[in-house]
Amino acid sequence: MKIKQATTLAHPNIALAKYWGKRDYGHNLPAVPSLSVTLAGMTTATTVTFDPDLKQDQLLLGGQQASAQATSRVTGLLDRVRTQSGVTEKARVVSANDFPTAAGLASSASAFAALALAASTAAGLHLSPEEVSNLARLTSVSAARSVFGGFAELRAGWPKDEKLSAQQVAVPEHLPLRIVVAVVTEGPKAVSSTDGMAHTVKTSSYYASWVERAPGIFGRVKRAIADKDLEALGVAAEESAFAMHATSLAATPALIYWTGTTLDVLAEVRRLRAVGIGAYATIDAGPHVKVMCAPEDEIEVAKVLGAVPGVLRTIVTRPGPGARVFTAAEERNQTDSMTYESISTAYVTLDLDSGDLETQSVKS
Ligand code: PMV
Repeated sequence: MKIKQATTLAHPNIALAKYWGKRDYGHNLPAVPSLSVTLAGMTTATTVTFDPDLKQDQLLLGGQQASAQATSRVTGLLDRVRTQSGVTEKARVVSANDFPTAAGLASSASAFAALALAASTAAGLHLSPEEVSNLARLTSVSAARSVFGGFAELRAGWPKDEKLSAQQVAVPEHLPLRIVVAVVTEGPKAVSSTDGMAHTVKTSSYYASWVERAPGIFGRVKRAIADKDLEALGVAAEESAFAMHATSLAATPALIYWTGTTLDVLAEVRRLRAVGIGAYATIDAGPHVKVMCAPEDEIEVAKVLGAVPGVLRTIVTRPGPGARVFTAAEERNQTDSMTYESISTAYVTLDLDSGDLETQSVKS
């Protein structure tokens, strides 16, 4: 009997035009259009195995048994795949990130893009990238964009939408861009984006103005990418991030994802601009600051941000590829084995021959 198993790799994305808030109808439909860049250098690797011996779905995250809440989110996606494919077995899902999980580094984007592709492939469905994107979007809106490499957009949802998928607007090489991530904490954020945006929709008096303004900012971000204009892109992306956070700050009680270090990093970004370095910040639902700059400025920007007290480390990334099924032959050219260090406890190694993920050791 053929083993129903697949391993995939996917990367987080950073929204340059943010999505924040869902429509109050339909299935997980975003209220505003968004546009993101998928990042190389931060990776989620996921293996899904449908196994007739399992009584329920299992999720191993970074070498550890995941919470019931995380597992039930995964089961929701697996159930859709089972319905569509006729596969009846429960699944073992083994997933690992080489960056902090659930901390505002868009781990849910790479997680559900990797899972949608792995689960549908393991079940024998041959979905198009758009269908994988729609499947991922039903669980995590931002994950729809990580299915695609480079720059990807997702329009807002409307009542008639049964399917809604992201689409690529430009390949990774289109715009020479670096994103320096200033990591401010390794821990998970206190309020998930799902809960945070629901609270904002319900209680923020600024939410209506955000929904009105976001499409205009999205249009400017898209045009700046088409024009390869880093300055226009940076200015519009900063506006999107600050407008999104302003609407959350106006919620009751206020939703504050930032820390003092976040503000100190933002001040450095402005100082960099004052001395002529084109650096522009964006922040998702967490305290980390992601700074866009040109490739020739990446070392200076990383040095300056890394020196801000409270910044734990910096990760320098660039536009990267979309979600893909792991094939040993393809990846073997790059390295003999890839090690994924989970947030706190385990090293998970991806075996390049078999595609299996194995927990190697436990970190103290
Ligand atoms: O995809 P979700 O539901 O985890 O929400 C993501 C929200 C932001 O990252 C803050 C913005 C975005 O467009 O990715």
